[in-house]
Amino acid sequence: MKLFIDTADLNEIKELASWGILDGVTTNPTLLAKSGRSFQEVIDEIFDLVDGPISLEVLSEKADDMIKEAKQIISKTPQKYRKNVAIKIPMTPEGLKAVKALSKEGIKTNVTLIFSANQALLAAKAGATFVSPFIGRLDDNGQEGMQLIEEIMDIFCNYDIETEVIVASIRHPIHVIEAARLGADIATVPPDVIRKMTKHPLTDAGIQSFLKDWAKVKK
Ligand code: E4P
Repeated sequence: MKLFIDTADLNEIKELASWGILDGVTTNPTLLAKSGRSFQEVIDEIFDLVDGPISLEVLSEKADDMIKEAKQIISKTPQKYRKNVAIKIPMTPEGLKAVKALSKEGIKTNVTLIFSANQALLAAKAGATFVSPFIGRLDDNGQEGMQLIEEIMDIFCNYDIETEVIVASIRHPIHVIEAARLGADIATVPPDVIRKMTKHPLTDAGIQSFLKDWAKVKK
């Protein structure tokens, strides 16, 4: 399973990219607002830090405007990074039209705010490169988010659909394990959850006891 980082915090992206574990980045307006920096400033740096799909969201509601916005984003991206741009488009009928048009031009799209398997199927049919089902928000709403991933994976496998499933709105490390067990293509994970994935108390205890014993070894 590929691992994307779900943040616009450049320090976190830099640090976690240095671990050699990141395959891409997802951002959204909320994450960009938290970064406190301008959109262009943030994305220019992200392209330098991670060589993989970088999802950047459009805010327009009409298909033609979404397409224009997408093209503006691409035109401001240095040529060498354009292959990494994935335009994040909300799951609406207008969004589907935009996905269809952009995919015809070979532009990657990530259909976001997916909360049902039907939405994922429609996005895939329109030509989406990625779909992003938001599992944490479903859990918050009293629905089993991971069940949605199971349904989408079943459907996409039944028909050899090439659209990749990004498990989004991840809240804790168990979500990552469950996503991987279901065969999801990608999990996009907030930095604090990635840090938690490194931890186990027995690892810490093991290091401490090896250090203690090493001190007793004749040198
Ligand atoms: C995905 O691309 C989104 O940025 C993200 O996963 C949303 O998660 P949230 O529910 O924590 O806001």
